Amino acid sequence: MNKEKKYLIQTWGCQMNEHDSEKIEGILNSLEYIEASNKEEADLIIYNTCLVRENAELKVYGNLGELKRLKRENPNLIIAVCGCMMQKEEVRDVIKKKYSHVDIIFGTHNIHKLPQLILDHDQKTNMLIDVWEDSKEIIEDLPTKRKYDFKAFINIMYGCNNFCTYCIVPYTRGREKSREAKDILEEAIKLSKEGYKEITLLGQNVNSYGKNLEDKTTFPELLYMLNDVEGLERIRFMTSHPKDLSNELISAMKDCDKVCNHLHLPFQSGSNRILKKMNRKYNKEQYLNLVEKVRTEIPDIALTTDIIVGFPGETEADFQETIDVVKKSKFDSAFTFLYSIREGTPAAKDEEQVPDDVKHKRFDKLLDTLKPISLERNTSLIGKKVKVLVEDISKNDSSKLSGRTDTSKLIHFKGDGSLIGKIVDVCVIDAKTWTLEGELVE
Ligand code: SAH
Ligand code: SF4
Ligand code: F3S
Repeated sequence: MNKEKKYLIQTWGCQMNEHDSEKIEGILNSLEYIEASNKEEADLIIYNTCLVRENAELKVYGNLGELKRLKRENPNLIIAVCGCMMQKEEVRDVIKKKYSHVDIIFGTHNIHKLPQLILDHDQKTNMLIDVWEDSKEIIEDLPTKRKYDFKAFINIMYGCNNFCTYCIVPYTRGREKSREAKDILEEAIKLSKEGYKEITLLGQNVNSYGKNLEDKTTFPELLYMLNDVEGLERIRFMTSHPKDLSNELISAMKDCDKVCNHLHLPFQSGSNRILKKMNRKYNKEQYLNLVEKVRTEIPDIALTTDIIVGFPGETEADFQETIDVVKKSKFDSAFTFLYSIREGTPAAKDEEQVPDDVKHKRFDKLLDTLKPISLERNTSLIGKKVKVLVEDISKNDSSKLSGRTDTSKLIHFKGDGSLIGKIVDVCVIDAKTWTLEGELVE
């Protein structure tokens, strides 16, 4: 009897990568691979990698190094590496030179070729490399093994055309391409029939959804269509670029009851000089106006953002502009990053790199500014009743559940595991900087 083959997949990076890994797992399941519980028993190990910052990259190299021993003990083990790092020739060269125990390299545009690559690999002893620079077509209907059975990612577009000068993503994900609205709608309907309650629409810049489509469906139009899908209860999306956040989108968020009260709107820097160098195409005043407009139109919205400190040429005065935006915008939370040099991007060649110690000091100051604001936003919810999609047993206390509010805040409360996947009413009883505590309303 044939022993079942086992796979293990490890994923770094953003939700786009997480969803790609769900597709890779779907493909492997269709090849009758099952999930291994540890590296030792795996016949196939796949690393899905991220290149957005240096520390993401270093983690992958560290993990790959550790696989050398496993490969020695089990020469039949197949090691595959894919994702954003593999789109870069320089990275592939490093793998060829230093990590020759890797068997298969593929990229972000040809996940669907995995079955063929596994087959081809069996007949070869050399490293098999298949990476496409870009791809014009979108491959529909890949099998997908979703991590949850109540919330799901849906790609609405791939790639990015913005070329922010610090960012590697346009080079790893290619040019912007939108999926046909009817395909997205079909996927959402199928998911709702299977019992899914929440969908998250994925794209690097969802506001430019539809620009390359013949029928020019816009993102707000897509939201209205999805809002009509029976059975779905929540619609989320990531990410909005401030340069083209339209009034139509704000109206759609207001009108569509299923679209969650949360907007992730990265501003990156508060300094107009730095924003220009970053090629972000908006200035501080425009960003602050947007925030005001959104908060006026949708008063209970949660606003989150991404911020980079230490972009080349950033002075103390520039940094103070960033602090000023944080104070004025009152974000519910923020992802903060130290600028990381990405070879191949324009900012990497900039001669005015900010010294590490200065970056770290500013980073700490930024957190010190963000934290009390987040705490204040969370504290204002104490005593309020919120709807929560229950996601898991709490990691720190097994008598508690964890879930997300409509505003995407993590909340913990006592309750039974049978509630996982359900939307329940919870009263907020306490607030911390990044999380809420609650009590189930029976
Ligand atoms: N498309 C999304 C985000 C993509 S990457 C958007 O435009 O909002 C997620 C975040 O990583 C970015 O918003 C940015 O804040 C950060 N980032 C990207 N490149 C970086 C770099 N070289 N150094 C530090 N942070 C970076
Ligand atoms: Fe990167 Fe800018 Fe594109 Fe976002 S919009 S993925 S930050 S280039
Ligand atoms: Fe995402 Fe990292 Fe690629 S952030 S798009 S996995 S470089």
